[in-house]
Amino acid sequence: MTMLLVCMLAALAGGALCQYYGEYDYYQPSSLLGPSGPNCAQECECPIMFPSAMYCDGRKLRFIPIVPSGIKYLYLQNNQIEEIKAGVFDNATDLRWLVLDHNQIPSNKIAKGSIDKLVKLEKLFFSYNQLTEPVGPLAKSLNELKMIENKMTKFPANTLTGLENLTNVDLHGNELTTEGLAGTFKGLKSLISVDVSKNKLKKLPAGLPNTLEILYADYNNIDSISSGYLQKLPALKYLRVSHNQLTNTGIPAGVFNVSSLIELDLSFNKLQSIPEVHENLEQLYLQVNEINKFELSSFCKFTGPLNYSRLKHLRLDMNQITHQDMPFDTSNCLRQATEIVFE
Ligand SMILES: *[C@@H]1O[C@H](CO)[C@@H](O)[C@H](O)[C@H]1NC(C)=O
Ligand SMILES: *[C@@H]1O[C@H](CO)[C@@H](O)[C@H](O)[C@H]1NC(C)=O
Ligand SMILES: *[C@@H]1O[C@H](CO)[C@@H](O)[C@H](O)[C@H]1NC(C)=O
Ligand SMILES: *[C@@H]1O[C@H](CO)[C@@H](O)[C@H](O)[C@H]1NC(C)=O
Repeated sequence: MTMLLVCMLAALAGGALCQYYGEYDYYQPSSLLGPSGPNCAQECECPIMFPSAMYCDGRKLRFIPIVPSGIKYLYLQNNQIEEIKAGVFDNATDLRWLVLDHNQIPSNKIAKGSIDKLVKLEKLFFSYNQLTEPVGPLAKSLNELKMIENKMTKFPANTLTGLENLTNVDLHGNELTTEGLAGTFKGLKSLISVDVSKNKLKKLPAGLPNTLEILYADYNNIDSISSGYLQKLPALKYLRVSHNQLTNTGIPAGVFNVSSLIELDLSFNKLQSIPEVHENLEQLYLQVNEINKFELSSFCKFTGPLNYSRLKHLRLDMNQITHQDMPFDTSNCLRQATEIVFE
């Protein structure tokens, strides 16, 4: 809420719109925010109109400046920070957001007892660093954790224990193995979204809570999905497993027969036929597989006035079929399809 207000004020003052750039949705360019307040590290800027934010991004910093008490939002991205020294956050107990993306911090240069001081932290963004293991212990108040593009091979089961408000975890682009993620997400009562794309997984993560709505696991080495896996995730709406090693033998009958799923991305795998999906599915991506037949039973068990597939978009390009392989009664089953792509 506060950030939105700053955007609007900045827009009025500078005649410029609040800028968003790429993944930095939360970050406002400090130059739009007016003069700096007095209670601020000399290397940084703390806008008078928004004195609880300290902007230290993109200043070639090699260290973390002193964080005055009262600062809630700390932006340290795009620097050359190589370590987190003991005591540096001692007065930063009000901190809600900590953004450390694009630095060079390895796990062994994070002093014990430094991150622990951030007892009110809600968002920790630690992407594009040199982490080989997760940072911790983390505040129980955390709701969002991003550690994209680091070098973690494992994420020990107790790291996130008891983070009852954690909704989003993004671990895209690490070296996480199936064993390295064992139990990581267990018991997280509020978890909605998990991204483990571009890792070294052979299986989808186990033990995800039943609140989960989004699971992205593209670019791994997943060759099968265990029977009943999705039945344990009754709220799951979006599942992406593209760019993996899935074959039809790795997909047990009925594994996608779940009514909650809206989008399923199985593109860039090795499937030879279209897996059976639930009638409620709306988006199905199967491009770049080895599919050589089109069976309506994959979409409709029965076809009738109220029995039909809700599928809107179906991609089948770069397979071994053409639109001529569609049975004549396809339109009755796929009656809501607005786009079926073959090439
Ligand atoms: C924390 O605040 C106290 C009192 O203002 C000050 O003496 C101390 O140097 C501060 N420590 C850090 C690490 O900023
Ligand atoms: C979780 O969020 C609720 C509602 O915002 C808050 O009351 C509660 O204190 C939070 N839990 C923790 C451990 O911070
Ligand atoms: C799909 O699941 C429903 C129950 O949710 C069941 O009645 C139906 O037989 C299942 N279909 C297949 C093909 O497994
Ligand atoms: C779907 O078809 C089956 C078998 O004909 C029938 O038992 C069921 O009631 C139908 N469901 C709906 C919603 O029409």
